[in-house]
Amino acid sequence: MAEQGKVFVFDHPLIQHKVTRMRDVNTPTKEFRELANEVSLLMAYEVTRDLPLSDVEVETPVQKGVFKEVSGKKLALVPILRAGLGMVDGMLSIIPSAKVGHIGLYRDPETVEPVEYYCKLPEDSASRTVILLDPMLATGGSAAAAVSFLKERGINDIKFCCIIAAPEGIQELHRQHPDVNIYCAAEDEGLNEHFYIYPGLGDAGDRLFGTK
Ligand code: PRP
Ligand code: URA
Repeated sequence: MAEQGKVFVFDHPLIQHKVTRMRDVNTPTKEFRELANEVSLLMAYEVTRDLPLSDVEVETPVQKGVFKEVSGKKLALVPILRAGLGMVDGMLSIIPSAKVGHIGLYRDPETVEPVEYYCKLPEDSASRTVILLDPMLATGGSAAAAVSFLKERGINDIKFCCIIAAPEGIQELHRQHPDVNIYCAAEDEGLNEHFYIYPGLGDAGDRLFGTK
């Protein structure tokens, strides 16, 4: 039986504080975007906690010594358009050498099914650890479809990073892809009748880009 994916909820006080500010309906677009950046930067620190280290010899101004450096696979960030874009710059500020791919998906408002419209990935993605980014994991349909697209292209080392996850989305993503760990800043109560996360923060894409 495949190992069940894990869920990591980051309870760092700064992350929690900033997500609360994002939830506030009175937080304007500019601040919302800044907060998404800051939360993503802090989450990058946590998501990369298990990166392997190896020894490297370095000569300091005082003497030679053996120290640690990050080794192993390189990273790629893949935001799910459009709202995932709001997590890229924050992540890149702490892992600047990561390559960036894009998957375009939107959730059909009638059927709530994901519809793909774009996919462009770094050529060597299959040899990288891919951090898939989307602030919202609601029904899980979009995230699961994005993971399937990645796997169809030979990419199998995937972490899914979101800001808010609904229990339904976690269950669905792990039902389809039990090998993918989920990293989030909050696990909320559930989905309302419009399949929006509650209490949630509303439509992440609209709030990031000021489209509503
Ligand atoms: C939102 C969100 C996720 C998806 C989550 O995107 O950013 O991609 O919905 O919902 P699900 O888990 O039920 O699939 P949306 O479709 O609104 O597109 P956008 O990013 O262009 O705003
Ligand atoms: N997409 C969002 O942006 N918000 C939700 O609550 C659900 C899907």
